[in-house]
Amino acid sequence: MPENSYSPGALDRSATFYVAGHRGLVGSAIWRRLEDEGFSSLVGRTSSELDLKDRKAVFEFFAAEKPRYVALAAAKVGGILANNTYPVDFLSENLRIQTNVMDAALEHGVERLLFLGSSCIYPKLAPQPLKEEYLLTGHLEPTNDAYAIAKIAGILQVQAVRRQYGLPWISAMPTNLYGPGDNFSPTGSHVLPALIRRYEEARLSGAESVTNWGTGSPLREFLHVDDMAEACLYLLENYDCPEQVNVGVGTDVTIKELAQTVAEAVGYTGSIEWDTTKPDGTPRKLMDVSKLTALGWKASIGLDEGIRSTVEWFREHQDDFRK
Ligand SMILES: NC(=O)c1ccc[n+]([C@@H]2O[C@H](COP(=O)([O-])OP(=O)(O)OC[C@H]3O[C@@H](n4cnc5c(N)ncnc54)[C@H](OP(=O)(O)O)[C@@H]3O)[C@@H](O)[C@H]2O)c1
Repeated sequence: MPENSYSPGALDRSATFYVAGHRGLVGSAIWRRLEDEGFSSLVGRTSSELDLKDRKAVFEFFAAEKPRYVALAAAKVGGILANNTYPVDFLSENLRIQTNVMDAALEHGVERLLFLGSSCIYPKLAPQPLKEEYLLTGHLEPTNDAYAIAKIAGILQVQAVRRQYGLPWISAMPTNLYGPGDNFSPTGSHVLPALIRRYEEARLSGAESVTNWGTGSPLREFLHVDDMAEACLYLLENYDCPEQVNVGVGTDVTIKELAQTVAEAVGYTGSIEWDTTKPDGTPRKLMDVSKLTALGWKASIGLDEGIRSTVEWFREHQDDFRK
């Protein structure tokens, strides 16, 4: 175990555990994991039941429920297009959501809290693979800088609470996630769910070819959200340091390989074309996961297996997936 990372110990399975954002991709996976682990007092609210931007309502909720543990997986999340088009919303809403939750958690004595950052908040030109220490060492990617600044503020708030109040709150930094409950909307989704939907629709319509943006050469890393949820609980029970911890698989694939894997999982047999006049984005984004590995955790769901089960979930949820 790395220096300075003593284990805070097992969580009490009977204590009240609030999962903020429990219907989202990450929050719902954390919820399932906690249920599987025997947590008997889980609390969640949808955004229409409790708008976390409403400070007064958030404080009232904490006063009523008195959670002992919190996983903060509520956030305004989106792809490049949404981030670039609505930067004020991504900055302001995320700052308010996380500040309200953490302020209320502090006032009501929440013992352990996990905040989620994102690999996209590391500097645009940071060396690969991305190490935790690269945070705040360079300029951000301009298309999502507003989101990144809000997330960085969240990580600093966790560190400040630790410094000022000595509470063992922590932050995790997930890579690209996918799995059941993902966002499959054509304008708001990330690359993997977008490909699943595109190839499934192409298969159903009998399309002879599907064209993707760019050359397909950028490298990306993908972690199944059930692995992410397992890592979240693992960190809450085994990690207690100010620095955020990267959560990923430590290996990447080209977008071309990803598209091929998705097409096979879906059963799409037409051709896969690439519109090379469209931009590719960052050539590579890979997390260095050596810190997490040294702490004793690593991902177990392979990409092929994870994509196949996500396709199954998508087919079974045609009426209620996020469009
Ligand atoms: N997805 C990824 O690839 C990825 C990668 C790295 C980091 N992360 C981080 O993981 C966290 C969760 O992401 P996700 O992918 O699970 O997002 P998601 O699927 O969009 O879920 C976000 C959740 O936040 C809730 N929420 C949003 N605004 C709210 C508000 N004003 N009041 C109350 N709840 C609100 C939503 O609740 P309702 O459903 O009730 O509206 C939703 O369930 C985020 O911090 C994100 O930065 C995600």
